Amino acid sequence: MSTSLWHDHAPDYPTSPFPTSAHVDVAVVGAGFTGLITALLLAEAGRSVAVLEARQVGAGASGATTAKTTLLQGTRLSTLTRTHNKELAADYLSASRLGQDWLREFCRDHGVDTHTTSAFTFAATEKGVQQVEAEHRAAHDLGLPTVLHDNLVTPFPVQAAVELPEQLQLNPADLLSALCRAVTDAGATITEQARVTEVLPREAPSRVEISTSAGDLTADRVVLATATPILDKRTTTMELVPQRSYLCAFDPAPNAALPDGMFISVESPSVSLRTHTLGEETKLLVGGYGHRTGQSRSTVERLTEIENWTTEHFPGTRRTHGWSAQDYHPVSMVPMVETLHWGEGLVHFAGGYSKWGMTSAPAAAHQVADLVLERPGRVTFGSPSTLGTAKTTAQMQSGATTSQVSNLVQAVTGAGDDRGDGPDDSTTDDSDANVGREGLRPVGEATVNGQACRVSLTCPHLGGTLAWNDAEESWDCPLHGSRFTADGTLLEGPAVGDLKRL
Ligand SMILES: Cc1cc2nc3c(=O)[nH]c(=O)nc-3n(C[C@H](O)[C@H](O)[C@H](O)COP(=O)(O)OP(=O)(O)OC[C@H]3O[C@@H](n4cnc5c(N)ncnc54)[C@H](O)[C@@H]3O)c2cc1C
Ligand code: FES
Repeated sequence: MSTSLWHDHAPDYPTSPFPTSAHVDVAVVGAGFTGLITALLLAEAGRSVAVLEARQVGAGASGATTAKTTLLQGTRLSTLTRTHNKELAADYLSASRLGQDWLREFCRDHGVDTHTTSAFTFAATEKGVQQVEAEHRAAHDLGLPTVLHDNLVTPFPVQAAVELPEQLQLNPADLLSALCRAVTDAGATITEQARVTEVLPREAPSRVEISTSAGDLTADRVVLATATPILDKRTTTMELVPQRSYLCAFDPAPNAALPDGMFISVESPSVSLRTHTLGEETKLLVGGYGHRTGQSRSTVERLTEIENWTTEHFPGTRRTHGWSAQDYHPVSMVPMVETLHWGEGLVHFAGGYSKWGMTSAPAAAHQVADLVLERPGRVTFGSPSTLGTAKTTAQMQSGATTSQVSNLVQAVTGAGDDRGDGPDDSTTDDSDANVGREGLRPVGEATVNGQACRVSLTCPHLGGTLAWNDAEESWDCPLHGSRFTADGTLLEGPAVGDLKRL
């Protein structure tokens, strides 16, 4: 598996050594879009801010995203209206609009190229037509100027499509770079390779002690912009379903007709398309094929399926990149911005964008900055209805099987997410990794670059049993999405420590 197209051409991200000051007003954990925008808003409001990033800027979904910045998001508006109500869908849309407007203005003011184009949600089969029509109705009812097409001339089959004109697509690496510059210009620091391992709220004086792999510091407030709240062992993490998806970049055949706009299908597995022009070259990006983290028999097959789909509909294309990343889906379907109950009122979290963080992250950053600054909130994603959330949460918390949960994810995401197959509990398809047991303990063995590694497959977060991800040569947890390298080193997720090496 190669790195993302964006990482290949990433500009410099201005970062800083670990802060010399032992105390800051706000520590922001995570340097994706949520963390950087939150840091910028707080620094602009006069707070001293330190951004602490476990790996590198953009190491999570923000550096791997398709970066469609659109208010038409698959079948999201009709799904929110159906599961909750129209008021919530309207609140969600207005938060997304604020996020999109803020991003458009930021890009304009900071020299980040954007491309204005239409977003389409399409049905590839007759079965999906009703979903497309429902999305058009819901979007229209909420005041969006959508257009319904009963067919569309595209290189792939389209039975019906809903179009929203004048949406944005961009290069996320350019945006991350501009955000880093703006954050450091506003006086904040951004430190990479500083994994936060402990966050301890103290009462007198009221402050938070933070331990990281690069040093310790204290802060008046902490914002966890870590996609899912690290260290959380209770409800917030449980309400977020980790979903991995895939993205490939292709060189099209000479003179190939490319799609004009950003597309996402309603069927399962979902297919997402856009183009990106780099100098003289135009790349075709095709992605989707998502599944719950830790629940795909072979992740390599997902990339092959994307490649097969693309070469079938765009003959002569050549894959140049293939990568994967994960985002989190709240069971309520509504992004989460909250003060964590274990944080004595000093620790906040923003995340859970169901793969629509280009608009949700800026909106959530505004909401969490307002919480920290204790000023009246300008943004809300709306309050999920008790009935809608009860239905989905009850299933999540009452011992639903993993495939029931996968079905649930399909329901909460609206557009087709693929269903996981369940982790393999014996031997993986890839001969380089084996899963077995030592007594009751699940154990994994993998050989990577000729080096044999043997690790406990019990997740250090809450004891989930990890599964092998052959495309990325990692051990992935199906419960809350923690991931580890073959030798057990933590990559991402709510866990904060490595696997036990045997
Ligand atoms: C394949 C894919 C395609 C997508 N396409 C789109 C799209 O087209 N349009 C759209 O709107 N959205 C899309 N999204 C969603 C969007 O990219 C995300 O919602 C958004 O990037 C999330 O940003 P974030 O900053 O909250 O999280 P992330 O970018 O994941 O950032 C979290 C950061 O926290 C860091 N971190 C974690 N733990 C620690 C710790 N202990 N200490 C310090 N740092 C830590 C991580 O290293 C990471 O850098 C897509 C997502 C995926 C996965
Ligand atoms: S991520 Fe929670 S148990 Fe593994």
